[in-house]
Order: sequence, then C-alpha cells, then structure tokens
Amino acid sequence: MREAVRTVVAITGASGIAYGIKFLENLPGERVLVVSEMAKKILPRETGIALEELYAMADEVYSDDDLFAPISSGSHRFDAMIVIPCSASSLGKIACGLADTLITRAAAVALKESRKLVLVVRETPKSAVLLENELRLARAGAVILDANPGFYHKPKTVDDVVSFVAGRALDQLGVEHALYEKWS
Ligand SMILES: Cc1cc2nc3c(=O)[nH]c(=O)nc-3n(C[C@H](O)[C@H](O)[C@H](O)COP(=O)(O)O)c2cc1C
Repeated sequence: MREAVRTVVAITGASGIAYGIKFLENLPGERVLVVSEMAKKILPRETGIALEELYAMADEVYSDDDLFAPISSGSHRFDAMIVIPCSASSLGKIACGLADTLITRAAAVALKESRKLVLVVRETPKSAVLLENELRLARAGAVILDANPGFYHKPKTVDDVVSFVAGRALDQLGVEHALYEKWS
C-alpha cells in the first residue's frame, strides 16, 4: 500500500490522548493537526506534554472552530484522516453528517471524497447508539479501530500498550514502523 503523504490527524476529547501523540511521533509525510477543545483540556490530565509541544509535532495546525481551513474543502487534497482518540460524541456527529467543527467537517470531506478515514474509538462499554453509529460509518467506508490493545507481544510498559494501538493505526495507512512486533 502507498504511504499516505498528507494526513489529517484529529485528537478529540476521549481518554487516551497518548495514542494520538504516539501516532503523530511515528507518522511520516505532512501532518495536519486539529485538537478539539475537550482534548486540549484532557491533554494535561493524562500526559506531561504541553499543547505547544503537541503542535510542534505537526507541519500544520488548525483550530477546531476554523471552518475556513483548507481541509474543510473537498477541493483541497489530503490523502487520509485519522481521529485518534475518537470520542463517542465526535463519532456520532460524523455518523450523522453533522459538520459544525473542523474535525467533523474534514471527516465528512474524507467520506464524500472516498478518502481513507480511520476512527480510533475509546469508549467502553458501548451503547446500542454508539454501536449503530460505528456500523453506519463502517458501511460508509470508515475504518473503526478500537483503542483495544493485544497482548501477544507481551507488553511490559504502558508505552508498549500505547505503541500497539498506535502501530495498528499506522498499519491502516500503510506506514512501516517498529512500534510492536508483528505476529509471525
Ligand atoms: C476526563 C474526561 C475523559 C473523557 N473520556 C472519554 C472517552 O474515553 N470516550 C468518550 O467517548 N468520551 C469521553 N469524554 C467525554 C467527551 O470529552 C465529551 O463527549 C466531549 O463532548 C467530546 O468532544 P470532542 O469530541 O469534540 O472532543 C471524557 C470527558 C472527560 C472530561
């Protein structure tokens, strides 16, 4: 698979911001970053990383209320989009076609333009509403990738667990990495 060259990375207000950071750190190519307002609030609670440090990992950064940003338009090229972690709220909006934030609008663009859209969902247990929203998006072509680590690689640290999920997300974009040992 061709490596995505320009990827929109959205971080929403679910637990597991570390997944998004690990993913960004290992993503090649141009990285366009959008962080939701709730994600900005959860970031300091879960990580020791300042918002400015997170922004410095990307090539371009846009505010989630900036619907004039280039990625808001289908005529502007990006190769893939990932929401990592993806809240049930953002997933629900995307499933319903609501596009009132840059993250949900860019996801709508990815769907309508048939570009790769990966949603790394972090919620448990899942209500029938969330499950139906996930099914709707899967049928529309999105990849629903639960933040759900495997243990066959015998993780020893939290970082190993985070790396597994981030690595599975990178796999979806065809990116080579060494974040976890592949089963052989
Ligand atoms: C500390 C904290 C942790 C949260 N974790 C989750 C979560 O893991 N999954 C989820 O779907 N929502 C979670 N939420 C709720 C979302 O932040 C909330 O639904 C918010 O509106 C999501 O907005 P966003 O998708 O625009 O970031 C959490 C909220 C807080 C305050």
